[in-house]
This record gives sequence, structure tokens and C-alpha cells, in this order.
Amino acid sequence: MTGALADRVRDAVAGVTDPELRRPLGELDMLRDVAVRDGVAEVGIALTIVGCPAADRIERDVRDAAASVSGIHAVDVRVGVMSPDERKALTEKLRGGRAKREMPFGPDSLTRVIAVTSGKGGVGKSTVTANLAVALAARGLRVGLVDADVHGFSIPGLLGLVDADGLPPAPTRLDDLILPPVAYGVKVISIGMFLRRPGEDAAGAVAWRGPMLHRTVQQFLTDVFFGDLDLLLLDMPPGTGDVAISVGQLLPHADVLVVTTPQAAAAEVAVRSGLVARQTGQRPIGVIENMAAMTLADGTVLDLFGAGGGDEVARALSTDETTVPLLASVPLSPALRSGGDDGRPVVLSQPDDPAARAIDAAAAALAIRPRGLAGKPLRLSV
Ligand SMILES: Nc1ncnc2c1ncn2[C@@H]1O[C@H](COP(=O)(O)OP(=O)(O)OP(=O)(O)O)[C@@H](O)[C@H]1O
Ligand SMILES: [Mg+2]
Repeated sequence: MTGALADRVRDAVAGVTDPELRRPLGELDMLRDVAVRDGVAEVGIALTIVGCPAADRIERDVRDAAASVSGIHAVDVRVGVMSPDERKALTEKLRGGRAKREMPFGPDSLTRVIAVTSGKGGVGKSTVTANLAVALAARGLRVGLVDADVHGFSIPGLLGLVDADGLPPAPTRLDDLILPPVAYGVKVISIGMFLRRPGEDAAGAVAWRGPMLHRTVQQFLTDVFFGDLDLLLLDMPPGTGDVAISVGQLLPHADVLVVTTPQAAAAEVAVRSGLVARQTGQRPIGVIENMAAMTLADGTVLDLFGAGGGDEVARALSTDETTVPLLASVPLSPALRSGGDDGRPVVLSQPDDPAARAIDAAAAALAIRPRGLAGKPLRLSV
């Protein structure tokens, strides 16, 4: 009798999801002994590391899951920590058989990689990318976001990933795997999460600081555990510098989304960034025009940066074989701006804002394509 009840408790607890690894505890081998005595469930769990930031949440969820089983009146959760061998087995399982240092986003990956670029700086690329990622996650896609703007990172702030000191949280490490923090359903990694804080020792941070940009971007792609993703977005630094070249080498099959303002001068450089990406084999798949004309409450139209830049870039990047569409024209928007400042993306906080709607329309267009298959040659066997 009690044995059957213990099995039911075990099943319930095995279904609890680890908030960082996003997999059920049962699958992660984090469950230990489960017993029931006089209606009291005793549940043992093994956390991955000492001081696991998600410990409280996991313990609470385990307690709730066990308590939900009928016949259980009280729950006693015993929290332990995995042994180094158990942890090694887990990291190997999470790597899914891939060797260490192997990049999971190669040409055969089912994850669609989209690098978001611009020619000029300050055109709103990071703001648009952050909102786009959140909008895609809200549509049910599994989305990762790499802040590849190593010098001018801004993604953590845009997604509210800051602690009480205003600093991005340090990601949890599971041996040599780095677990990306999750914001609004998006798994996020940024160099900002690895910078040293005052008074903190250098352990763990060193490897990310000194080395060249290429190695940093490469580490983001290899050592960060994103799990299965439908889409990986990269917020690129402006222009066609070193990081763009590195990403072109590391992800030659990536799709490229070009952000521009409506201004002719911005459009010209945006075209150049799209063409450079194409030279490395990447494919421009669309243009987003940002900071387009906004209509004020009294009906006046404010077109600070003119009009036409988005269309111009889309036309210039289109070839006889491929049409590069203008996916959205995002108007100037105080709500988009303040949502970025507050770390609350406008696509969720004010979905009716015209900028939010435009970005969501772009997300809808990007979400349509089945992952992995588009653009790949079909290998038919006869
Ligand atoms: N549509 C918009 N309406 C109003 N403000 C905007 C809009 N888009 C972006 N901004 C604001 O413009 C500024 C620059 O945006 P953002 O940092 O996203 O640009 P960026 O292209 O990523 O810049 P960088 O080149 O520095 O990476 C931010 O203050 C942002 O809030
Ligand atoms: Mg930026």
C-alpha cells in the first residue's frame, strides 16, 4: 500500500521541472529516495551544485508536487548535492553525446540561427532584437539570445536581467557547462554576466575577460547549455567589425536580419552590412526598419528620420533569385524606449503599442518557417 503511494509521489516529483535546466527532475537523475510513512512523504533530491540559485524554487515545487498526491498529509524534503561523478554523468547527458567544445549550431543543427545586424550604431537593433526574441518565445518557440555585442552589451538590461546592484546575474555553472539565465521565456547569454564585480574573486571570470572576441563568441556558442532551440538570435555589434567576421566564420549558414532607420545614410551602411554577411555565406532574410514615423495624439506625423530606408535596403539586398522582404516598419515609440529602460519588453507590457505590433508582426513572419529545413537542399534518394 505504502509502496504504491511512494511510487505515486515519485512520479509526481519526477515531473517537476528544474527552472534552469528546463527538464524534469526525473530525467536529470536528481531524485533520490522516496518513502511514505503514515501519510508523510520523505523525498530526497540532489541539487547539481552547492548554493544552486534555483534551490528554493525546486524545493518548493517538489513539496507542492508531493503534497498534491492524495493520501499525503505532510512532506519532508531532504536536499542533498550531486557527487562529482553524478554531475559529470549529468553534463554528459545534457551535451547529448556531443564532445566537449563542439558547437551545437552547425549546419546540421535543427536550430535556425538569425544574426541581427545593422550598419550604423544606435538604430535600435538591440531593442528590436530583445523584443523580437520575447515575441517569438510568446508564440511558443524555444528561443535563445546571444548578446554578441561584447563591448557594448545591452541585452540583459533590456530584458530585466539585473540584480539589486543593477548588474546582470552570473549564470550558474555545471562543471564546464554554463546555464543561461531565462527572461520572459528566452535563454539569454551576455558578456555582461561574466564581468567581475567589486570584491569578487577572479575565479571563473578570467577566461571570459582577456581573450579575443572570437574566443568569447565561440564560448557563447559552445559552452552555454541552450538545450534544443527552435531559434537562436544573435544581437550583433553595429557595423562589420571583428565580431561580425567571427560570427560569419563560426555560423556561415546563419540567416541575417538587417535593422536600419528610414534615413538614407543609415540605409546605405545597412546594405553594406547585409552584403558583407552574404560574402561569408550567410543569407539576408529580411529587413526591419526602426524609428519610422510616429503619429502623435493630435494626428500630427513625426518623421524624425524621414522615410523609405527600409524599402531601400530590402530592394538593394534582393537579387534575381531571392527577394529580401521588409518584415516590419517599427515606429518611434516612447513605450518601446521606456520598456527597454525598465527591462519590461513592450511586446508583453503594452502589446497594442504600434511599435509592439510591428515587432510582433515580424515575429509572426519569422515563426512561420519550419525550423531547420528552409534553405537546405533536399536530399532525395531514389
Ligand atoms: N522605435 C524606437 N522609438 C524610440 N526609441 C527607440 C526606438 N528604438 C530604439 N530606441 C531607443 O534608441 C536607443 C538605441 O537603441 P538600441 O540600443 O537598441 O540601438 P542599437 O542599434 O542596439 O545600438 P548600438 O549600436 O549601441 O548597439 C535606445 O535608447 C532605445 O531605447
Ligand atoms: Mg546594441
